[in-house]
Amino acid sequence: MTTSVGNINQSLTNGYDVEQVRADFPALHQSVNGKPLAYLDNGATSQKPNAVIDSLVNYYRNDNSNVHRGVHTLSQRATEGYEGTRDKVKRFLNTRDTREVIFVRGTTEGINLTAHSFVRPNLKAGDEILITEMEHHSNIVPWQMLVEEKGAVLKVVPMNDAGELEMDKFHQMLGPKTKFVSVVYVANALGTVNPVREIIEAAHAIDVPVMLDAAQAVPHMAVDVQELDCDFLTFSSHKVFGPTGMGVLYGKLERLEAMVPYQGGGDMIKAVAFDHVEYNDLPYRLEAGTPNIADTIAMGVALDYVLDLGVSAIAAHEHQLLEYATSALSNIPGVRIIGTAKDKASVLSFIIDKVHAHDVGTILDGNGVAVRAGHHCSMPVMTHFGVPATARASLALYNNEADIDALVEGINRVKEIFQR
Ligand code: ALA
Repeated sequence: MTTSVGNINQSLTNGYDVEQVRADFPALHQSVNGKPLAYLDNGATSQKPNAVIDSLVNYYRNDNSNVHRGVHTLSQRATEGYEGTRDKVKRFLNTRDTREVIFVRGTTEGINLTAHSFVRPNLKAGDEILITEMEHHSNIVPWQMLVEEKGAVLKVVPMNDAGELEMDKFHQMLGPKTKFVSVVYVANALGTVNPVREIIEAAHAIDVPVMLDAAQAVPHMAVDVQELDCDFLTFSSHKVFGPTGMGVLYGKLERLEAMVPYQGGGDMIKAVAFDHVEYNDLPYRLEAGTPNIADTIAMGVALDYVLDLGVSAIAAHEHQLLEYATSALSNIPGVRIIGTAKDKASVLSFIIDKVHAHDVGTILDGNGVAVRAGHHCSMPVMTHFGVPATARASLALYNNEADIDALVEGINRVKEIFQR
């Protein structure tokens, strides 16, 4: 097995210095239970670089003020920082216009907002919404609530035992009754990268709009909304090295224009009288109330951090590491990888014979290795594979081969303990 010294050389050969990247993330440099931390729970949330932490502190120390309201200097600084993030998101996703960037609390809110304000007003009994078997609960439950209210139908595209969508079924299920398609780009419990271009093209051929849940995609690969041609796309800041409680809903301008307001309140109006209300223009019309200013600004810093490192360099590094990890885990007897799609990104879900995933997670933690154990908010995926839970190692741009070696050592320890 390659040592961590080998890893440094390998990464430098590819022009990506993972050790230098690690130096930017203070939380990585600690011991957990007497072992160096191997943080492999990035699918749940990522660590934050110094630049993001400094941005939060700087905002509250120096610039704290409300946006869009004050004529004073601090308010102008806060507004510039807040609106400046819209430009950064425009660059990050390659949107056409900053008005296509709506700030939300995260992916969950991005999907709920779209369901409520875009799909709900025109959905009728018998209409169909198409999702897939590998969705996170946040891309299932909002649609269940909506179809129940409207007497509409939720159709679910199945996957095969590798965790790949059955695309022939998708094409059969897409039809005149389909009103909306909402699909995960990279599946959180499996790592499958879905053929979203094919999905979008087919749906658009019959004028059906498509939403992408890109929460697990944007930290790992270049996402260009113009090239994808998706109608909506949403992601969470905290999975892409920014703060929690923050995220983005992208929508094509004409789609956002068609949406009814989600919440009423300050900032989303132009004029209010007791017998009349005039709504504000986009994007403010969909952002009621004082927003999450500090976290918005810090999210912009996180997105710049990713772009400055280079998304294709990050993707290449993670791809190499995923192959290293997949091959290491495949060689351990009794370990079964759940999710073996040809096209995968940064997720390695696994089970160990006769050991519950929670025990795996707890023993790994004893070795300083952080993984998520459970159903990963994707219970239908667990049902498909006939398991109650998996342990999931999920990678990010700062992981190295030493982290994977620690995972392998931890898994061997789990086996030892359970074989006693
Ligand atoms: N959706 C997050 C995960 O996959 C929390 O862990």
